[in-house]
Amino acid sequence: MKASELRQKFLEFFKQKGHAEISGKSLIPENDPTVLFNTAGMQPLVPYLLGEKHPLGTRLADVQKCVRTGDIDSVGDHSHLTFFEMLGNWSLGDYFKEEAITWSYEFLTSPEWLGIPREKLWVTVFAGEEGIPRDEESAAIWKRLGIPDNRISYLDREHNWWGPAGSTGPCGPDTEMFYDTGRPCPRGDDCEGPTCKCGRWLEIWNDVFMQYNKQADGSYVPLAKKNVDTGMGVERTITVLQGKDSVYDTELFQPILKTLSDLVGVPYGQDPARDSSMRIIADHVKTACFIIGDDLGVSPSNVGQGYVLRRLIRRAVRHGRKLGLHGPFLKIPAAAVLEIYTDVYPEVVQRRQKIQEELTHEEERFLKTLEHGEKEFEKMLPGLLKNPRKELSGRLAFKLYDTYGFPIEITEELAMEHGMTVDRAGFDEAFAKHQEVSKAGADKTFKGGLADHSEMTTRLHTATHLLHKALQIVLGEHARQRGSNITPERLRFDFSHPQKMSDDEIQRVEDIVNEQIRRGLEVSQSVLPLEEAKKLGAMALFGDKYEDVVKVYRIGDFSLEVCGGPHVNNTRELGKFKIQKEEASSAGVRRIRAVLLDENQG
Ligand code: ALA
Repeated sequence: MKASELRQKFLEFFKQKGHAEISGKSLIPENDPTVLFNTAGMQPLVPYLLGEKHPLGTRLADVQKCVRTGDIDSVGDHSHLTFFEMLGNWSLGDYFKEEAITWSYEFLTSPEWLGIPREKLWVTVFAGEEGIPRDEESAAIWKRLGIPDNRISYLDREHNWWGPAGSTGPCGPDTEMFYDTGRPCPRGDDCEGPTCKCGRWLEIWNDVFMQYNKQADGSYVPLAKKNVDTGMGVERTITVLQGKDSVYDTELFQPILKTLSDLVGVPYGQDPARDSSMRIIADHVKTACFIIGDDLGVSPSNVGQGYVLRRLIRRAVRHGRKLGLHGPFLKIPAAAVLEIYTDVYPEVVQRRQKIQEELTHEEERFLKTLEHGEKEFEKMLPGLLKNPRKELSGRLAFKLYDTYGFPIEITEELAMEHGMTVDRAGFDEAFAKHQEVSKAGADKTFKGGLADHSEMTTRLHTATHLLHKALQIVLGEHARQRGSNITPERLRFDFSHPQKMSDDEIQRVEDIVNEQIRRGLEVSQSVLPLEEAKKLGAMALFGDKYEDVVKVYRIGDFSLEVCGGPHVNNTRELGKFKIQKEEASSAGVRRIRAVLLDENQG
């Protein structure tokens, strides 16, 4: 079964179970400061999981593009990827464990659907902890369906819990489904089961049961409306269905690997180290194509999504060098990526030229960095060679990395060419220290989970709608939303506009927003057919995809926008709106940072 058939079957199955199909969203989240990319299908649905009504009802299903970089060091093994597609079905206060598990099992094992042999299926459930009972309910359902005791593992929070770590909000236990590939575990019969990292087990689906609301005091209160959030990996599931050894052996990767083996002039599948580099390049170039080609696409940079993109491209270039590819080459495998997804993600494929230009440009920039670093290295060389131990210190290696973006592997290569070694332990230590400092921030952005829909973010969200409309009034209709990011402290809004805003324009926008706040406009929502919303002049996120029926938020007579919410009830709740900064975001896109102050502040 090919990926295209799997996507279609999944949606078909859940439609038969009363679900509405919703379209997958952009890879880059809107209004959610907790993540840089959508890391799971539930991400764009957070407002609905927190109680907002969805226009298409309480049972939904979709295919969502996801990017996760947390496992980047495992990329190249049998199953880890930085870009993947997640199939998901949701219950918004509708069905719960019984239906979710029964349907997962039916879809996986019924000959009419995927027909995976029952005896190949292992599952895990939450073992419970102080204050939260063991999930016997899920286990009992699995047993009744025919999964024997020895194939059900009870695991802790690290494995079988999904939700906000450390903060408040909906969360709950999950049950994960694993396929037993039969690959021998080095520990033989002592293999620990699905959690063993031996490569025998492939997690293909996760059913999350959001049944608690975590309180600020750390306690868990059962939710009145319980949700189900599931995620099935497309790449892993077709690997299983096709009886392949790894995700890279499927049609979603083979054509990319073929371009690489042609470029290198050596077949894929002959040398593990070479294969690993080819797999890493194939994965990273695919992810880069989807980030650049997204509706809200970004370019390589040193911050946020742009930085992740830069790291992926540079890592691919480094592995290219290992394979003997020294000039820019990524646009060739990129063409194969786009070919694979022609019918699935046409919005990405149509940005072919932009993708190829950005890739080549970044490759050239990185190759210059490497050249520059090589020169610095040459300069240091006479001094280094005086060192009787012929060892380059970790501190120096880290300086090359930190100041010139010079990867440690390249420093090692150069050192080796001059008969020297690098104090790798010293480098690792300096690097780890540096990581610790930046980790606190990165953890926040990379962790999947639910956004903080505190009162402040809700107020800022409503202010964003006012700002959007005010910009169009002052600058013209071209000033459309390109991105939005809200934290409890501030809003950040990106919009199309060719030049810097003048002080006068900024003042006028601010005045218009404050005027609407003073007017005390009612905020109301309704559900309309998309066409009707458009006819009414509702603003919609440029380039995004919508369902046929959408939810719109109206702010008095001032603004009408397609949006999932949540919002305040009256603009009077906002306080005073203040623009703090207006700056360039990328070519043709400006960025505004603004805050809400108490009436008597500022
Ligand atoms: N949100 C769950 C996951 O990503 C389904 O595993």
